[in-house]
Amino acid sequence: MHPDESSINILSIESSCDDTSAAVVQNGTPLSNIVFSQKIHEQYGGIVPEVASRDHLVKIVPVVEKALAEAAVDFDQLHAIAFTRGPGLLGSLIVGTSFAKGLALSLDIPLIEVNHMQAHILAHFAEKPHPEFPFLCLTVSGGHTQIVLVSDYLAFELIGQTLDDAAGEAFDKSGKILGLGYPAGPKIDKIAQKGHAVFTFPEPQIAHLDFSFSGVKTAILYFIQDQIKKDPTFIQKNLENLCASIQHIIVKILINKFRKAIQQTSVKHIAIAGGVSANSSLRAAFTDLGKEMNCTVHIPKFEYCTDNAAMIGVAGYYKYLRKQFASHNIKPLARYAL
Ligand code: KG4
Ligand code: ZN
Repeated sequence: MHPDESSINILSIESSCDDTSAAVVQNGTPLSNIVFSQKIHEQYGGIVPEVASRDHLVKIVPVVEKALAEAAVDFDQLHAIAFTRGPGLLGSLIVGTSFAKGLALSLDIPLIEVNHMQAHILAHFAEKPHPEFPFLCLTVSGGHTQIVLVSDYLAFELIGQTLDDAAGEAFDKSGKILGLGYPAGPKIDKIAQKGHAVFTFPEPQIAHLDFSFSGVKTAILYFIQDQIKKDPTFIQKNLENLCASIQHIIVKILINKFRKAIQQTSVKHIAIAGGVSANSSLRAAFTDLGKEMNCTVHIPKFEYCTDNAAMIGVAGYYKYLRKQFASHNIKPLARYAL
């Protein structure tokens, strides 16, 4: 069957880190979004790149088959293959890139390369209402913390970013100190709901619209080490309040800096993206900030916050409309600027 030109079907692949994901996106709207999260890294306390890329190899075919089946779309109904080119772990990116190239070549359809951080932002167009341009996006993930001024589907201006650790790393590394395992972000979120932010940590004073989280992480580490010297059971006794306090300072840093960005740009539409935007306290604080600053707030559904291929397909669709296709010589990029 020849593809129906009135609807554009894009198969998208995401393999930048430890999630193997495939989606079918029709006219910019996801029909399926299959994510296989590699649990194997939990035992190592962090992602082991070599293990991640091997696991992508095992999972990519079944994940793609499931995405097509759930969308009820066949290979011959696809118009393009979109894939994550970077940033991410090179070994992981190579699996998705090679798979996408091979499939695009065999189906004789265009290949579209997507920047993972742009895709986190464009995830907002997976559902309606779409944000209006220009909007200001706080992108918070395991590897990035950025404030981005978005003036069009494919026009992004980075106006602030972390100088050291990302917000997700601040959650994960603090959680490691508490013995919570990897990734600790979702666990801190859950445990914090039963506690209160009774322990205070200093907010770093960083110039411009940039962030820093390494000082906070060190302050948390030293505080806990001191307390453990006095009482070895300090963490067990105070886990709920510790999680609430850690979450409180990370959210406070993000919200206070983002408020400055709204003031400086006078933009009236705000959005949040990336894995850490799944955090319940950050979502609530972001909604409150929108009310305080009289802005329209956009917060994606949970499945579009953490790594997923639907966002790659949405970004791919807007590149497809502008015929921004990739050559088959293209290589993945571990570092890929916005
Ligand atoms: O965007 P993402 O899935 O992958 C990257 O591109 O990095 O983000 C993963 C990060 C991890 O650091 C994880 O701990 C954090 O997002 N995360 C959370 C929550 N869910 C995921 N952090 C805090 N609260 C959550 N509920
Ligand atoms: Zn991500």
